[in-house]
Amino acid sequence: MRMILVGPPGAGKGTQAQRLVDSFRIPHISSGDMLRAAVKEGTELGKQADALMKAGALVPDDVVIGMILERIARPDAGQGFMLDGFPRTTPQAEALDRALAGAGVALDAVVLIEVPDELIVERGVGRRTDPETGKIYHLKFDPPPADVVGRLVHRKDDTAEAIHKRLEKYHSETAPIVPFYQGKGVLRRVDGVGTPDEVTRRITAVLGK
Ligand code: AP5
Repeated sequence: MRMILVGPPGAGKGTQAQRLVDSFRIPHISSGDMLRAAVKEGTELGKQADALMKAGALVPDDVVIGMILERIARPDAGQGFMLDGFPRTTPQAEALDRALAGAGVALDAVVLIEVPDELIVERGVGRRTDPETGKIYHLKFDPPPADVVGRLVHRKDDTAEAIHKRLEKYHSETAPIVPFYQGKGVLRRVDGVGTPDEVTRRITAVLGK
């Protein structure tokens, strides 16, 4: 299964990917997680990405395209992958398309998780991530157990101001890839409002799993 999760910031892409990858037995490849790891390690890529991410801006296409194409060419992605956060611009979608065509493979599905803008800020501001396990929580919607609370991280781009900026970028840069994939017949729309369990059931249903 070669698939992509698309949706606005905080739509639940990471949450759903964590629930789905084990049963699909494919790697979860999150461009945001890879960039945050580079920031933490202080690599050249991380230094370039840090300020852009904090401000809710996008990292340049050529940088992200190189990073993801190199990742999906690794052996563990040979039978499939779940991309999360990439592509998020038309040039990124076109570059992925060319790379897959060159490798003689095709996408099976692009799952669009739809959540209205008015729910997005609360989801982001309340998000907390466990740096040890990578698990995503929400202070209200998915409260963390007491024994991990002390170590949870609040992402630097999860301020209301940065989330508004990320939403603007989503509408101007990422939403245009939706018709691109619709035209290819691989787009699957899923309502992202409801409990995470409900959303997981909707995704598995549209994927025919
Ligand atoms: P990235 O990490 O990809 O961020 P994003 O797309 O903004 O998505 P998020 O990780 O914020 O949200 P999500 O949809 O995964 O939601 P989650 O499951 O965590 O990118 C960050 C930055 O990196 C970008 O702004 C950019 O600078 C850069 N970048 C990354 N990729 C790039 C690219 N391709 N090109 C250029 N730049 C790039 O859920 C959110 C919260 O809601 C959690 O607290 C969760 O518990 C809760 N929640 C989840 N589901 C539900 C539900 N059903 N009901 C209630 N709450 C829920």
